[in-house]
Amino acid sequence: MATTTLTTTEDRTEVGHAARIDHVSKSFGGPEGQQLVLDDITLDVAPGEFVTLLGASGCGKSTLLNLVAGLDRPTAGSIETPGGRPALMFQEHALFPWLTAGKNIELALRLRGMPRSERRAEAERLLELVRLGGAYGKRVHELSGGMRQRVAMARALAQDSQLLLMDEPFAALDAITRDVLHDELTRIWRETDLSVLFVTHNVREAVRLAQRVVLLSSRPGRIAREWTVGIEQPRRIEDTAVAELSVEITEQLRGEIRRHGQH
Ligand SMILES: Nc1ncnc2c1ncn2[C@@H]1O[C@H](COP(=O)(O)OP(=O)(O)OP(=O)(O)O)[C@@H](O)[C@H]1O
Ligand SMILES: [Mg+2]
Repeated sequence: MATTTLTTTEDRTEVGHAARIDHVSKSFGGPEGQQLVLDDITLDVAPGEFVTLLGASGCGKSTLLNLVAGLDRPTAGSIETPGGRPALMFQEHALFPWLTAGKNIELALRLRGMPRSERRAEAERLLELVRLGGAYGKRVHELSGGMRQRVAMARALAQDSQLLLMDEPFAALDAITRDVLHDELTRIWRETDLSVLFVTHNVREAVRLAQRVVLLSSRPGRIAREWTVGIEQPRRIEDTAVAELSVEITEQLRGEIRRHGQH
């Protein structure tokens, strides 16, 4: 088991994709019979690529992410993540409140098989990476919302997965904290070989972060359109180019929402 994390490992480059979602559909059974939530989704995430999945509330974004995470199975189609089990980060930090920040991270390291003697130093390194050096001994309730999300990010990175799945991880934060965490996430992503599939319903956030924005339609969720974002990183959410593309994407998103009679 490798004990270094997030190195720019050449041994990962032979894999053609970090995730391959191939003609995936998902239905749930309910009182009104089967409900088709995702319809024939095909999407690849390349190694090292940052993709945001954008769509209205209820369109199936979390459902798709859960399928990629292996938490649920598609009704039809297949999903491959050749780099192994992806790391997952949710809107709520889901840290264990009875453990310190450091111990939360060490738990992920232990699950990964890292020997006990190496865990503490690695947890501290990961806390440094998310700019929380010194928070090792802090309990979850002693941390602000933004700090908790940083610990959650460090814990996700501790899994040393090739693919990081993020489900609206910053949605509960104020705009300034979110801005800072966008910068941190972009920095970490650029410094490593991580692939990211990031779910949001915030168009600006999608454009701020991604190399590619994939818009899902609603009921059922289908890929409506995608954009390659050529704007140089690091970007700012208030950059004119980010704003302009966001306007274009918002128009499409509004069209999707209108078509399905929501809001
Ligand atoms: N386990 C489940 N059983 C039944 N229906 C489900 C289940 N999970 C999700 N759904 C339904 O699938 C649809 C999509 O839900 P999902 O949570 O994927 O949407 P979302 O795009 O993530 O929305 P939001 O932006 O609000 O988080 C919803 O209609 C939801 O009720
Ligand atoms: Mg969701």
